[in-house]
Amino acid sequence: MANQEEIFKKVVSHAKEYGFIFPSSEIYDGLAAVYDYGQLGTELKNNIKQYWWRAMVQYHENIVGIDSAIFMHPRIWKASGHVDAFNDPLIDNKDSKKRYRADVLIEDHIAKIEEKINKECEKAHKRFGDAFDRQQFITTNARVLEHQKQIDEIHAKYAELMNANDLAGLKQLILDLGIVCPVSGTRNWTDVRQFNLMFATKMGSVIDDSDTLYLRPETAQGIFVNFLNVQKSGRMKIPFGIAQIGKAFRNEIVARQFIFRMREFEQMEMQFFVRPGTELEWFNHWKEERLKWHLALGIPAEKYRYHDHEKLAHYANAATDIEFEFPFGFKELEGIHSRTDFDLSRHSEFSGKKLQYFDSELNESYTPYVIETSIGVDRTFLAIFSHALKDETLPDGSTRTVLSLPAPLAPYKAAILPLVKKDGLPEKAREIMNTLKYDFMLQYDEKDAIGRRYRRQDAIGTPYCITVDNDTLSDNTVTVRDRDNMQQQRISIEKLRAFLYDHIQPVKID
Ligand code: GAP
Repeated sequence: MANQEEIFKKVVSHAKEYGFIFPSSEIYDGLAAVYDYGQLGTELKNNIKQYWWRAMVQYHENIVGIDSAIFMHPRIWKASGHVDAFNDPLIDNKDSKKRYRADVLIEDHIAKIEEKINKECEKAHKRFGDAFDRQQFITTNARVLEHQKQIDEIHAKYAELMNANDLAGLKQLILDLGIVCPVSGTRNWTDVRQFNLMFATKMGSVIDDSDTLYLRPETAQGIFVNFLNVQKSGRMKIPFGIAQIGKAFRNEIVARQFIFRMREFEQMEMQFFVRPGTELEWFNHWKEERLKWHLALGIPAEKYRYHDHEKLAHYANAATDIEFEFPFGFKELEGIHSRTDFDLSRHSEFSGKKLQYFDSELNESYTPYVIETSIGVDRTFLAIFSHALKDETLPDGSTRTVLSLPAPLAPYKAAILPLVKKDGLPEKAREIMNTLKYDFMLQYDEKDAIGRRYRRQDAIGTPYCITVDNDTLSDNTVTVRDRDNMQQQRISIEKLRAFLYDHIQPVKID
């Protein structure tokens, strides 16, 4: 079986080869950590956004969506705390001159210990076969317990240092753990410094500080500053939510792992405004709801896990990540945060406008508390895409590459394929295409042998191939081939629309 690195390389090359994702500005040698979505990537990305929007806005009467501008008043970022505190702790290796995020060095060190635990499990699995019980093993095996203890101690120490903003302590932890630079292999580290992640630009023609604008590092603030606009114009009653999908920008220093950490990316965020005192109930509610959203795509539950934060931001009273097992290990996919009344209170203070809600049931005004769900579009793309991509060996010994995307997210829902490029079959295929194209994204393909065309559609994740052959001309039936099990069935043309609707329904969440 290919190792994780090979799988990840295959994900990146497949995404490029089939028009999902290209490096930005490639003909100019690219721009680090910036990517362009190609013709198929754009379709998949749009389908992911639509799935989120439907689940959050369309399926909830009390959630509405907005689209706020990327440019915002510069004081917003002062109020939100981003100007003063949206920093990463950086450390340089003096020999390689490479710069790293101190927290990422520590995270990678922890990942190596986790890898040791996995290896122990694999060994034991081989030894015990089907009788192997992973849960029992990791809670009783002495070596695993020792590794886990190490991980817990590092987490606790790291949280303590970050909470105290103790940068010297952070450097000491890196030294104590014996972390070496992956390039030079030495421990010759500089001190740890804080580095602000916001991109600044200027508005207008006057070059002075007051004109400095920031490219938003999160979409959430556009929601907070529109709280009153939406609440009043939409006559929203608490509890209610405001959702938004949009670009965000961060000057990530350690930008890597393809579209996992980018400098320009997209977020899907929802702020849910609640009565003070009820926030932890709602936090738990959204924690569960969001995991359901992921699981409804049919990806196995073991690919996801919660990771509760040890280090809470000063404004949060609970926070968790939903992590996904990417080809490079479990990493954050989505954050769910209980942000108290911090943001609305700060914007009230900085703008001088009272951002409060009159609760007619309680007959009092208050600043609502907020639960936030925040997920990256690109990370979701990477999670779904990397899980879907498989090399399969078929019963006849041949191999195929298949992208088993959830059907509602697939770029094309079906391909229309005339068996041969003559005898009136292309014309018939086009006729079918023209009747279905208003309902579904379809691809027409008449080039090459049918087997090669099936493989091409498998590789881009098309759930169904509809083949038009000579029988079609006499009996108005076509062959429909299923991407995943490669079974074929004969269906009459007039039933095709209903068949596709039945098999490619929007994802429902129980
Ligand atoms: N408003 C809260 C917020 O922005 P975050 O944990 O910094 O929280 C939320 O970001 C989500 O945005 C992450 O879980 C991740 O999916 C995505 N994200 C953050 N930084 C990213 C980056 N540099 N590249 C791609 N996605 C990113």
